[in-house]
Amino acid sequence: MSVSAPPAAQRAAAPQMSTEKLFQPVRLGAYNLPHRIAMAPLTRSRARQPGNVPTLLNACYYAQRASAAVIISEATQVSMQGQGYAWTPGIHSREQVDGWRQVTAAVHAAGGLIFLQLWHVGRISHPALQPDHMLPVASSAIKPHGQAFIENEKGEGELVPFIAPRALQIEEMPYLVAQYTRGARNAMDAGFDGVEIHGANGYLPDQFISSSTNQRTDRYGGSIENRARLLMEVVETAIDIWGKDRVGVRLSPLGKANDISDSDPEATFGYIVGKLNDYQMAYLHVINPAAAQIENKMEPDPAAQRMLALIREKYRGTLMLAGGFDRDTAEAWLEQGKADLIAFGREFLANPDLPERFRRRAPLNAYDPSTYYGGGAKGYTDYPSLAQQHGEEPAPCVDESWR
Ligand SMILES: Cc1cc2nc3c(=O)[nH]c(=O)nc-3n(C[C@H](O)[C@H](O)[C@H](O)COP(=O)(O)O)c2cc1C
Repeated sequence: MSVSAPPAAQRAAAPQMSTEKLFQPVRLGAYNLPHRIAMAPLTRSRARQPGNVPTLLNACYYAQRASAAVIISEATQVSMQGQGYAWTPGIHSREQVDGWRQVTAAVHAAGGLIFLQLWHVGRISHPALQPDHMLPVASSAIKPHGQAFIENEKGEGELVPFIAPRALQIEEMPYLVAQYTRGARNAMDAGFDGVEIHGANGYLPDQFISSSTNQRTDRYGGSIENRARLLMEVVETAIDIWGKDRVGVRLSPLGKANDISDSDPEATFGYIVGKLNDYQMAYLHVINPAAAQIENKMEPDPAAQRMLALIREKYRGTLMLAGGFDRDTAEAWLEQGKADLIAFGREFLANPDLPERFRRRAPLNAYDPSTYYGGGAKGYTDYPSLAQQHGEEPAPCVDESWR
């Protein structure tokens, strides 16, 4: 069955009772969003069956969260080579496309909008996750500190040390971009409303961007223009398929996740953000470099403040920020014009009806990190809605019409 998103006009027509910024409509490329509370991408490692195929349980989880202004899906590998953790879903096989189609049908039936996050992990992987147990690939052969999460012979999750990846040869670069082309096309076949390119958190595009992980001397290394080339090629292929108003990019300037750093982040990200601005994409999504400070109710440090101001200056389109926000800090940042939308990660994970809770200033369910990754419905689809907390029976989550 095919279900499409409600027309933008209908979504925007929801009553606007509040004067708060959080509940004002906003434009996101092709779409009018009724409010500004987005769901951040969240890896949940629950595509466990052979082939990393999404299931009806995943459809249930996303449908429960369809009141987000827009859902950004969990990071989804564009190829087997792009996988870095056990049990994450892909968007490279026919079975995965069919699995995701159930998810998008469920979200659309519940009135939501969902973008797929396109992912290639590069060196943040392990031969145990790679086709034919080959080495993971990266911009340069530099081993990250830390551990990969793999499935061991007993079928259990296990942390094992990273190994040094293999540097991509220049001849392979078109093939790499083609993995994203296929992913973007498959996302359209699967019924998504757009795609977000995962350029953040030390994964492959970020490994090219950042000076600590890129020692190349060809046209993908050295100058900032060269280091940004892969990201721009991926953006261009995604736009070729989707059009500019259904493509977003996620970046994490000043981020240290997955052992990454840049020697001159303001020059690097100033250039990248300016260049992305020229594409007139649906949005730019930035992981707040001041996330930890916001969460601890502190002022952002000067480096984070400078980076945020630089991004706002260079990027004129819709800006989504994520990281460390609660209802009040989100409202304050929107009110001060520092962002156009706020994406919530952990709070959305634990509160399927987060916009409604914010609207009513209702208490929030606490998130449980022990059930973030792997497992089944527990800590995934069993976080109660407000209505359930007020005694309503949970509706059956899975609808056969999604199949
Ligand atoms: C369990 C978990 C999984 C995550 N998975 C992803 C992911 O797949 N892609 C991504 O870009 N960020 C991912 N993140 C980062 C979140 O999108 C978000 O930036 C982070 O949680 C900070 O926002 P918060 O303070 O609202 O939780 C993940 C975070 C958590 C807690």
